[in-house]
Amino acid sequence: MTYHVIAMEGIEKHYTLSTGVTTPILKSVDLTVEPGEFVSIMGPSGSGKSTLMNLLGTLDKATGGTYLLDGDNVGDYDDDALARIRNRTIGFVFQGFNLLSRRTIIDNIALPLFYAGETHAERLKRAEHYLDMVGLGTHRNYYPAQLSGGQQQRIAIARALCGEPKLILADEPTGNLDSKTSKEIMELFAALSSEGITIILVTHEQDVARYGKRLVQLKDGEVIYDGPMY
Ligand SMILES: Nc1ncnc2c1ncn2[C@@H]1O[C@H](COP(=O)(O)OP(=O)(O)O)[C@@H](O)[C@H]1O
Ligand SMILES: [Mg+2]
Repeated sequence: MTYHVIAMEGIEKHYTLSTGVTTPILKSVDLTVEPGEFVSIMGPSGSGKSTLMNLLGTLDKATGGTYLLDGDNVGDYDDDALARIRNRTIGFVFQGFNLLSRRTIIDNIALPLFYAGETHAERLKRAEHYLDMVGLGTHRNYYPAQLSGGQQQRIAIARALCGEPKLILADEPTGNLDSKTSKEIMELFAALSSEGITIILVTHEQDVARYGKRLVQLKDGEVIYDGPMY
């Protein structure tokens, strides 16, 4: 069997409302992603992009189909096991940065490693390495509110990298940034991609999507295009 970072087959997601009405959100999505790919997912608002990202990130479960993440069938695991798989496999970057406001930058980056059971010395060493990589080594003792939006997103990217994940999932990472800062953040993603990190990025902006090499277009919960970026 061939190895894929992501192998989704016939993935479905529906919600059943309190009225008993079932609304399909994702309809039989097939998606495979190989190591080192940079995939941009685009689609209109409400087309199911975030729903798909939550499934990819194992933050939510599909109502149908099969999903192998890094070779593991996600459906076979309980929440605790899934959390462990998620922590060692995926780094998340969100539109809203999601930094802890009462923690310094260095603590924000090192914290996920605490949950991964790394020693204090190892946590600091790795956090400093990734802080330098995103160009904010001089800001280690700042608090998130003392940084610009673009700098906060760099911190969030360093935090995602710190666990040395196989895959980065980024949902609208430039959604709260101006166009100049968006470009800087996307250049950082492009640099990470050229180092071989696998990236799946959701955006509704063409300029942002173009940093990816492969384009997946969603419409009404279905993949309507999956191929080279155009
Ligand atoms: N918990 C939920 N219950 C019911 N419907 C939901 C829920 N979450 C999302 N949806 C619906 O799923 C559709 C897709 O949402 P989403 O994945 O967030 O789209 P996108 O990220 O592409 O804008 C939307 O119509 C949304 O209203
Ligand atoms: Mg969304």
